[in-house]
Amino acid sequence: MTAAGRAPRRGKALGQLGVLPEGAILVRDGVIAAIGPAAKIEKLQDSRRAQLLDLDGRVVLPGFVDSHTHLVHAASRVHEYELRIQGASYQEIVRKGGGILNSVKRLRAASAEELKTRARVFLGRFAEHGTTTIEAKSGYGLDVTSELRILSLYKELGAEQPLEIVSTFLGAHVVPEEYRGKPGGTREYLVLLEQALIPEVAENGLAEYCDVFCERSAFSRAESRQVLVAGRENGLRPRVHAEQLSHTGATQLGMELGAASCDHLEYLKPGDIRALAKSDTVATLLPGCDFHLGLQLYAPARALIDGGAIVGLATDFNPGTSPTLSMPMVLSLACTQLRMTPAEAIAAATINSAYSLGRHKRIGSIEIGKQADLGVFEVADYREIPYYFGVNTCWLTMKRGEVVHMRD
Ligand code: NIG
Ligand code: FE
Repeated sequence: MTAAGRAPRRGKALGQLGVLPEGAILVRDGVIAAIGPAAKIEKLQDSRRAQLLDLDGRVVLPGFVDSHTHLVHAASRVHEYELRIQGASYQEIVRKGGGILNSVKRLRAASAEELKTRARVFLGRFAEHGTTTIEAKSGYGLDVTSELRILSLYKELGAEQPLEIVSTFLGAHVVPEEYRGKPGGTREYLVLLEQALIPEVAENGLAEYCDVFCERSAFSRAESRQVLVAGRENGLRPRVHAEQLSHTGATQLGMELGAASCDHLEYLKPGDIRALAKSDTVATLLPGCDFHLGLQLYAPARALIDGGAIVGLATDFNPGTSPTLSMPMVLSLACTQLRMTPAEAIAAATINSAYSLGRHKRIGSIEIGKQADLGVFEVADYREIPYYFGVNTCWLTMKRGEVVHMRD
């Protein structure tokens, strides 16, 4: 399954993935040098000197590009999980001081070394599930030291282990405790973001993107605009947490500011769908959240695809709403709950997510000249990857031509 061709993919093209039966790939210096029928590739001059990796009929995909994660956090929120099972809603828990603020408290109390060790374990698990690139947000620090610490960790981890990490500054996740309940507190925090944090993050090359959680319990549309504009003025392209728990108009705002992606979109309106279809902003769907929170409402994936929007998929790996780092599980949810076909879900999780991270020329499909980022699955048919839900069929993961995971 190559996902080769024009990127990004919209409408019918989303589900038309190139399947190459009995194929072979020649990798040289971490880059795909040739791809085609095995009989042909094996005869190439360069293939004779190559090391052979026999995949024995397994299915190869482009490595997953997980374009929305909150990788660095200090602890799970399993206590809130149980409260929700017993009937409390996500918003009720937030109002009682749980939610993101709970994670902020834990993160501020943790050392950089603890956070790094934890993140390193997770990165290994991402690789085990066929993911080769992730986007990772800050947002559980919410003060200068802690936010910079998270982003610096992403930089260090990106250099120390094989997966590629694309950093996003999410200082506007919620208003931190110390600014709440005092008059003008939110305004003061926004000034800190605009005048101190965003310029510092940009100056030190600590993020490519600036994100904001636009929601009643977080930032209004006007506040979100202020943050995203400040980010953009400092060279950070916008991404937005939009219409997750209610309709706020964040999607329209994102498109207006040229956002790379608007994410979540459960409460999207028909007008938003029409506008997304005409824009280059990716609609990134995160069905893991709805599943984990036990919500019945999923994003309108079919209307988005049929309307012509660029649809992407990601895990939203985070301790509050989506504690999964499994893209195969996200594919299962996309197929069963969002009514995407397996081929559509795979394209959304590879080439379209790569596009949302501005990396579609280098990753996201199996084509000559692209990075050899691959996932190999122990299945007879690519559709079995989502079909076996909750089962990790990933057998081997390759990043830039290096094997970074192999099942024994
Ligand atoms: O993507 N929506 C905001 N951020 C996360 C949840 C954060 C949390 O609950 O810790 C999300 O769902
Ligand atoms: Fe998120």
